[in-house]
Amino acid sequence: MGYAVTVGGRRVDCADGQSLLEACLRAGVWMPNSCNQGTCGSCKLQVRTGSVDHGQSPLDTLTEEERSAGLALACQARPLADVEIGASAPARATHPLRDLTATVLQIADIARDTRRVLLGLAEPLAFEAGQYVELVVPGSGARRQYSLANTADEDKVLELHVRRVPGGVATDRWIFGSLSVGEHVRAVGPLGDFHLRAEDEDGPMVLIGGGTGLAPLTGIARTALARRPDREVLLYHGVRGAADLYDLDRFAELAGAHPGFRFVPVLSHEPDPAHRTGFPTEAFLEDVVSGRGWSGWLCGPPAMVEAGVKAFKRRRMAPRQIRREKFTPAQR
Ligand code: FES
Repeated sequence: MGYAVTVGGRRVDCADGQSLLEACLRAGVWMPNSCNQGTCGSCKLQVRTGSVDHGQSPLDTLTEEERSAGLALACQARPLADVEIGASAPARATHPLRDLTATVLQIADIARDTRRVLLGLAEPLAFEAGQYVELVVPGSGARRQYSLANTADEDKVLELHVRRVPGGVATDRWIFGSLSVGEHVRAVGPLGDFHLRAEDEDGPMVLIGGGTGLAPLTGIARTALARRPDREVLLYHGVRGAADLYDLDRFAELAGAHPGFRFVPVLSHEPDPAHRTGFPTEAFLEDVVSGRGWSGWLCGPPAMVEAGVKAFKRRRMAPRQIRREKFTPAQR
């Protein structure tokens, strides 16, 4: 049966057990979202009429006072009646979230404990470079998030970079365990707001990725350079050691085609004379004197993302020009 959700004058059907966010995105109605796990708070909204079950909403993301004031996390809240919600940003069209069936085309070990997985789709997926998909882990029904390294026109073969999590149900047991070429995989996507917008078309860009946080930045950097081939784009990849680096040839080729593009690997724990040592945010501070007019993109572990925000602000980058995607541990 389900309930009706009204947002920005649009009415959306929400199936039983479906979150407000999923109902809206499936209907092609955008609302801010990032983690889809209740941890980032970007999907917080006002429930104007009706009531919701807050589900797994953590108290540090949605306090008791906020619940009493009618706020909810769209990614966690399920309607208990027809509801009208007021989003923090005007409703606009987005690529609809949908169920995907994909076939594993290739699994490649590309770095220490890191695999590239290529998934073939029967139907192309409409998305923006930088967004992610959730894979459904067979047997458990758990979903795990993987950013797409694709540009939007690479819409029939999805490229995922996967880092092994010791003991993880998705990586250790499945993607680094039983997963094989030819296997059918269930997924949903696209999700997330980490992508280029109309206002990002100008100015130099700096992108900093930690580990497999490189994946969405790969898609974003290639998209930006395809749109403006002479753009200044600095891409830093922070890893522990040289064994964790990958796609050096891909970025060397990109730099050959685009004189404004530079790829800078930075090793934090295992120095190597061929590469810079330290943290990528420090390397940015060494290299760039002023970030005024730049946009900054961060993807990786929370500590790296927070250090990046500080570094960008130190270089006078406007806060609204700073985009971030934190890798948060899976909650379910
Ligand atoms: Fe809902 Fe992050 S808390 S998308």
